[in-house]
Amino acid sequence: MENMSDIERAVRAIREDRLWQRHLDMARLGGTPRGGVNRQALSPEDAAARNLLMSWARARGFQVSTDAIGNLFVRRDGTDASARPVLSGSHMDSQPTGGRFDGMYGVLAAFEALEALEDAGVATRRPVEAVAWTNEEGSRFQPGAMGSGVFAGHYALTDMLAVKDWKGVRLGDALVQTLAAAPAPRRGGNAPCFPLDGYVEAHIEQGPRLEDVRTTIGCVTGIQGSRRFMVEILGEEAHAGTTPRAARKDAFVAAVAIASAMQAATCDPEDTLRFTIGHVDVQPGSPNTVPGRVSFSIDMRHPATEVLDAHEAKLREIVATMAPPCTASIGRLTAVAPTVFDPDVVALVREAAQRQGYSHMDMPSGAGHDAMHIAPLCPTGMIFVPCERGISHNEIENATPADLAAGTRVLVETLLRLANR
Ligand code: GLV
Ligand code: MN
Ligand code: MN
Repeated sequence: MENMSDIERAVRAIREDRLWQRHLDMARLGGTPRGGVNRQALSPEDAAARNLLMSWARARGFQVSTDAIGNLFVRRDGTDASARPVLSGSHMDSQPTGGRFDGMYGVLAAFEALEALEDAGVATRRPVEAVAWTNEEGSRFQPGAMGSGVFAGHYALTDMLAVKDWKGVRLGDALVQTLAAAPAPRRGGNAPCFPLDGYVEAHIEQGPRLEDVRTTIGCVTGIQGSRRFMVEILGEEAHAGTTPRAARKDAFVAAVAIASAMQAATCDPEDTLRFTIGHVDVQPGSPNTVPGRVSFSIDMRHPATEVLDAHEAKLREIVATMAPPCTASIGRLTAVAPTVFDPDVVALVREAAQRQGYSHMDMPSGAGHDAMHIAPLCPTGMIFVPCERGISHNEIENATPADLAAGTRVLVETLLRLANR
């Protein structure tokens, strides 16, 4: 059992200025004119972020390694070489028009925790490791939360290596290029998993609740379930100037009808069910050709599996009945069950926030996180801090240095208690 002075010293060693500066340094990699980042998974900007993190890690004498799907680990040894590590982190990839904090905060908070332990000279029984999971966002390569999903055995490595981005680039090729540009010693074989003793992920809330009630720490109790689908509609290409309406099989007209019927069918008076069409592709994409093929993505989320099941059935019925004269199909890409975090880890987060004098509340997560895949492997939890107006997946995403540091202080205390269990 650690003594209070170890916890106190580690908490005091968290440096708000260093943590903030590291966010600014990372934000330059893929930085956009509007102040956000475009650092999509396995891009040159992702490789640059990996190199920067590794350079900081090596400067501190921490060990770096990467596994078969490119998850990047930074390890600070414990006193017991055979003990399972405690892990903390998130992701460094971003949305195409992403912010500076989504994902990156969790990686930098974990790294700051390692540095604080080092600066305070606090030894832990278990190793403590920071992780940057590959491709959490799923905007370039689907599905998202891929690195953690492969680590957890939720997705097969070979299937994921074969995934192509919207331009047809194979993930396996992008991974080889990224790891050549940001090389690290390889860890594990083709089943990239090792036993963990605990996992804690820090993240900005990405919603407005903490800010609304002026609360600094969210003790995250779980994550709502989510499903992704692709709808594909096939019509017939035809001349836009000559083809009468009755003779057309316009795939876009069918897509609009299907999409609006889906919007209506998923309208939830309680506003708990989330339904988003975020990617639409119209082919051949010529102004004077009737579209012959349209595909669009669906992202649907709710805390209850039964509700997701019922609405999936409705979506399928809409596709089957509303497509004619076109034909249409709906394919499910991912289904992630609702996650319930370990009550002991949630309690440790709550106790750390309480002991350090931060306002805190229990709350579920509306967004998906890598923690949802790690939760079946080991006791898992998350720590949320507020972000400005709850805005995320947007270049103007913002958070305060003080809140980021507060979450990191709660994180280091939680990690220290787990690492000495
Ligand atoms: C992660 O960014 C998600 O889509 O929830
Ligand atoms: Mn994220
Ligand atoms: Mn995100």
